[in-house]
Amino acid sequence: MELRIKRAPRLDLEITVPGDKSISHRAVIIAALSNGVCTLGGFLPSEDCMRTVNAMRALGIRIEQPEPDTLIVHGKKRVLMPPKKEIDCGNSGTTMRLLAGLLAGQTFESRLVADAGLSRRPMDRVITPLRRMGANIVAEGPEQTPPLRIHGGSLRGIRYRLPIASAQIKGALLLAGLFAKGKTTVDEPTPTRNHTEVMLSYFLVRTAKNGDGSLTVFGDQVPESRDFTIPGDISAAAFWLVAAAARPRGHLLVREVGLNDTRTAVLGVLLRMGAQVREAIEEVDQLEPRGIVEVTGAPLKGTVIQGREVPQLIDELPILAVAGALANGKTIIRHAQELRVKETDRIAATAHNLRTMGAQVTEMNDGLEIHGPALLHGARVPSFGDHRIAMAFAIAGLFADGETIVQDADCIRKSYPGFESVLEEFTNSKRMQVSTPVIGSLTSPPVEEV
Ligand code: S3P
Repeated sequence: MELRIKRAPRLDLEITVPGDKSISHRAVIIAALSNGVCTLGGFLPSEDCMRTVNAMRALGIRIEQPEPDTLIVHGKKRVLMPPKKEIDCGNSGTTMRLLAGLLAGQTFESRLVADAGLSRRPMDRVITPLRRMGANIVAEGPEQTPPLRIHGGSLRGIRYRLPIASAQIKGALLLAGLFAKGKTTVDEPTPTRNHTEVMLSYFLVRTAKNGDGSLTVFGDQVPESRDFTIPGDISAAAFWLVAAAARPRGHLLVREVGLNDTRTAVLGVLLRMGAQVREAIEEVDQLEPRGIVEVTGAPLKGTVIQGREVPQLIDELPILAVAGALANGKTIIRHAQELRVKETDRIAATAHNLRTMGAQVTEMNDGLEIHGPALLHGARVPSFGDHRIAMAFAIAGLFADGETIVQDADCIRKSYPGFESVLEEFTNSKRMQVSTPVIGSLTSPPVEEV
């Protein structure tokens, strides 16, 4: 599929976004380990999250889906069945890495396979600590890439310092820790999204956040079954937030979106770039805060994104690079070498597509330097099979002269079914009735000194 995009007029919209991808994966897995029936609302029915659902079904868990965004998960008190065949994780790195942790503690053998894209992504980062816990796990691909063969067994809790800030690896180790003897403690170089530990706490699993910031899970516990409603995905909202922020007097309200502060760094960056950004947390009962974000656009100015901010907006960097191209002055993104091992090399892909559309960009080992403002022109740009590249350049097309064509845009289904219809609303932006929320102001975070 190709996406064809034209410059958007002034925009003024109110939207919701589909359920959070990271939370959807974790909710399904932890509900499946629980001691009863859990109804999960707001589930993201995207290709990646359905990989996790089907994997849990292959492990003997009954999961009904009465509506695309509702799951009824029949937890079996941590009892999983040996899968009849290999488990296909498709393109979903989160599925593969979280399952590696889960399966490391089972008594049966399993094999996790991947599509061509995921088969190029590194797995040593999850294999090394799981082996240290006693798991028998082998990567069959070259240089520790998928497939993974896991011969589960009895695990012992360890203390492990992650060499790379990665919520997927932290999540894998905490899930393995549930099946390990004693306690498992994970120490992160800088804080990453905390959805695994939050979801474990929500399901009444005993965890601890230690004084030094490390996290502990105590082994041998059964999550208590509970219902949960997954909030909207702020990483999906980020595309529209940038579209509104970079259009002077553009206005956007996003409702029912997740506002967990390990995920909202993108809002601080947009504020620093000159947009008006306000958020209101409306609900915290289910431990994952959710509420409203409102953005009013302005002429943006360049900024620096580096240090501890990077893991907290890692998925938003391609769209923030587009914002940088539209901003006055220089935008620098550093310490983001992890982008090179996402669904594609996002540093190279972003630089390539921005240049194709007329922006001046310098590629660095660990980031990008973008000189704005660029007069973007419509062009034919590849998605590189990466959903976030496809969506970032669809948004760039809203600001370009002439037509922009994003090639191979089917990959968007990985995280955002329905993206095209919102894009349509943006291109035809008609004034929509928006009620005035009571909403708090954010203060602009300074660029971190490193
Ligand atoms: C995710 C963590 C991030 C992110 C990915 C989802 C998660 O990956 O890029 O889209 O759900 O834990 P890393 O943990 O590898 O940084």
